[in-house]
Amino acid sequence: MSEVTFPEGFLWGGALAANQSEGSYRAGGKGLTTVDMIPLGAHRMPVKLGLEKRFTLRDDEYYPSHDAIEFYQRYKQDIALMAEMGFTVFRTSIAWSRIYPNGDEAEPNAEGIAFYRSVFEECRKYGIEPLVTLCHFDVPMHLVTEYGSWRNRKMIALFARYARTCFEAFDGLVKYWLTFNEINILLHSPFSGAGLVFEADENPEQVKYQAAHHELVASALVTKIAHEVNPANQVGCMLAGGNFYPWSCKPEDVWAALQKDRENLFFIDVQARGSYPAYAARLFREKGIEIAMQPEDADILRHTVDFISFSYYASRCASADMTAQNSSAANVVKSLINPHLTRSDWGWGIDPLGLRITMNMMYDRYQKPLFLVENGLGARDELTADGQINDDYRIDYLRQHIQAMGEAIADGIPVIGYTTWGCIDLVAASTGEMSKRYGFVYVDRDDLGRGTLERIRKKSFWWYQQVIASNGSNLHSE
Ligand code: BG6
Repeated sequence: MSEVTFPEGFLWGGALAANQSEGSYRAGGKGLTTVDMIPLGAHRMPVKLGLEKRFTLRDDEYYPSHDAIEFYQRYKQDIALMAEMGFTVFRTSIAWSRIYPNGDEAEPNAEGIAFYRSVFEECRKYGIEPLVTLCHFDVPMHLVTEYGSWRNRKMIALFARYARTCFEAFDGLVKYWLTFNEINILLHSPFSGAGLVFEADENPEQVKYQAAHHELVASALVTKIAHEVNPANQVGCMLAGGNFYPWSCKPEDVWAALQKDRENLFFIDVQARGSYPAYAARLFREKGIEIAMQPEDADILRHTVDFISFSYYASRCASADMTAQNSSAANVVKSLINPHLTRSDWGWGIDPLGLRITMNMMYDRYQKPLFLVENGLGARDELTADGQINDDYRIDYLRQHIQAMGEAIADGIPVIGYTTWGCIDLVAASTGEMSKRYGFVYVDRDDLGRGTLERIRKKSFWWYQQVIASNGSNLHSE
């Protein structure tokens, strides 16, 4: 293992999202959101993908987001654990529906503001920089039922009002902001990604790209507002990252991989460069898409992000015929199974070099600082008889990825920081399981919500503490 060095002031920490950790889904006046409608079990995927309409809760189903890990009740204890590990950054999201329960009220909900103020103050108490996503897979349900969510242009103004409220309410507490979590997931999981459910007579591609346009304009507009409220604010976009490799060196496979990359990077191309990429016109023509734009949109889009944030779990793989070989849907983006990689318990490829490749590609393309805001291994953890969790597999995964990130920094890429995903075990977004664990801290809760919610430090807790204390120079474990 070659030595890697991280810059002075590099931010180390972990990430949660409101909908996967807070629970207390109706407390403090919170409104219902899309994710609150997504049950565990057979209906989960059809609902997430927008194929099955679920606008009311059912008594016979279990909804993992409703209680999650009760971060809402336990955030002081959880942030203290993060501080004990030495975190200098903590990524979480604000639930839009705690600030505007329906999404379209004239005035914000004071209780929601007070809750997040307290969370961010708690972080500051320990010198932890909050990194805050404005929308992480949780559109208020009222905006879905009344407006059709992001297919409706009115969402831009509603989102801008919500964002301005946050920038003003948390000014001085929060400097790093992300607009939409994994914005490209809108294409792959439209209901969880953007609150979209398709009607029988709709062209889903048309609806998705129109919604994408609205999100892109909204993202640029709130970037502008963030800078107006406080020029020190730093706003990032957020990509579900991971380059596509061609299945073979056959030119058709290489072309297919390039197109699949563009499908995801389309969003970042707009957010980082300030206008639609040249390839978009043909893409829209061939899919029968016509985007309704207003004359002012081009000017708004010019407000580009300050940095590029992204998640990286695995690389992806494409061929000219995606149905021909084994395929998987790791993290809902369809990919061929790369035979050169080992895979996690949930079938996600493990590819640290792919992280270095992805980071180099992104910096070559955008020349903006990068922030790796999600990375980690979802695995089954076993409690030993004496209450320990020896998660060496997680340490191995993280060590290799931190090493690869260090190599990317040595390649010349400016990187602001690193937040591992699910630093405290939380509900998995894809499957809704608790048993798919990412954390340094174990949470006593099972897939059906049974357990004490007790927090237990895993072996990786102590390892990550040492990584942070050494600013990434000591990645070893005994
Ligand atoms: C990303 C999301 O897609 O991946 C997170 O931003 C999600 O919300 C994470 O939890 C890991 O996916 P999963 O399905 O293992 O939770």
